[in-house]
Amino acid sequence: MMSPGSLAKLHAQCFLTPRPWSSKEFQELLLQTSVHLVSKDYGFIVGMLIGSEAELLTLAVDPQQHRKGIATKLLKEFENLCRSNTIKKIILEVMETNRPALKLYETNNFIVQGARKDYYSGVNGIKVSAIIMTKVL
Ligand SMILES: CC(C)(COP(=O)(O)OP(=O)(O)OC[C@H]1O[C@@H](n2cnc3c(N)ncnc32)[C@H](O)[C@@H]1OP(=O)(O)O)[C@@H](O)C(=O)NCCC(=O)NCCS
Repeated sequence: MMSPGSLAKLHAQCFLTPRPWSSKEFQELLLQTSVHLVSKDYGFIVGMLIGSEAELLTLAVDPQQHRKGIATKLLKEFENLCRSNTIKKIILEVMETNRPALKLYETNNFIVQGARKDYYSGVNGIKVSAIIMTKVL
């Protein structure tokens, strides 16, 4: 199991915007009973399971280990965790400029549900919309 410190370290390697989460933030988040961590060597997903819906809060894979199927495996494991908790739908938000992640989710049968305009503040304060994607299990 990855420690809050190693989650934060990996998160910082993966994210500039949205800003990386600190070790303390991971620690506090994971104390919530609805919050679940799925981790493997080199990557993790944190999700929140409430009622019949789950929100994928974050997904990070070590930049040195991209395109090896790690995110795909993590997604499958997260989906299985959701199914065993009788979750019917997964929801997530992704920056419209994040092509690798958009492609990953499309490949894994998530569909675009809508957008939140100018949701993120990107590099130099430039606003970037969030794409909302869902997958019915
Ligand atoms: C997005 C991310 C999690 C993908 O992790 P990964 O382990 O490299 O993904 P996989 O190897 O499982 O890729 C599966 C498929 O996703 C798509 N994909 C992944 N990275 C891609 C890229 N850079 N460009 C285009 N398509 C990509 C491809 O279809 C790929 O299949 P293929 O390699 O057979 O072509 C990783 O790039 C990452 O950590 N990025 C920074 C953090 C982030 O953006 N997280 C998601 C926020 S919502």
